[in-house]
Amino acid sequence: MQGFLSEERRGAVLRSLRTDAGTLSRDYLAAAREVLQELVAMPDLVRRLPLERKAGGYSRNLLAGNEAVSVWAIVWDEGSSTCIHDHHCSCCFGVVSGSVTETWYRAIDASRAVPTEEQEREPGYVACMLPSGPNIHRMRNFGPGEAISIHIYGFDHEVRASSIETVYTAVDG
Ligand SMILES: [Fe+2]
Repeated sequence: MQGFLSEERRGAVLRSLRTDAGTLSRDYLAAAREVLQELVAMPDLVRRLPLERKAGGYSRNLLAGNEAVSVWAIVWDEGSSTCIHDHHCSCCFGVVSGSVTETWYRAIDASRAVPTEEQEREPGYVACMLPSGPNIHRMRNFGPGEAISIHIYGFDHEVRASSIETVYTAVDG
């Protein structure tokens, strides 16, 4: 799974992510943004990786990981969508190609949320969110065509299955 990036680039990515002060620190988040900005500026390199596709859905491809962080390329088939979710860890992402629509929500109780904002994220877009902030969202690819994004999460992929903390159902605002 970790063979997508060359060992050299993988090592460079993991070294650049300054996790010594944890994955919530300002230094870490700045480093994660920098790594993402570099990766989204190399769409050809990312597109050439042997990434898995999932018809009608999205597929996660582990690019690099250690006990503190995991870096994934997500390929979004047209029409694919995440659930409405928040995160147990910091979550930084950048769009490589295509466009991803991100909808934000506000929780009204432990399992329901109302939409508050929606933005289309275009190639080059980079953002970070923290588990302590308002961070309930859903990502969808309305097309045309597939989209690819890179995600850097502050979790150990060998310990946890995903970055998702809670899944919500939508109610109209
Ligand atoms: Fe998310």
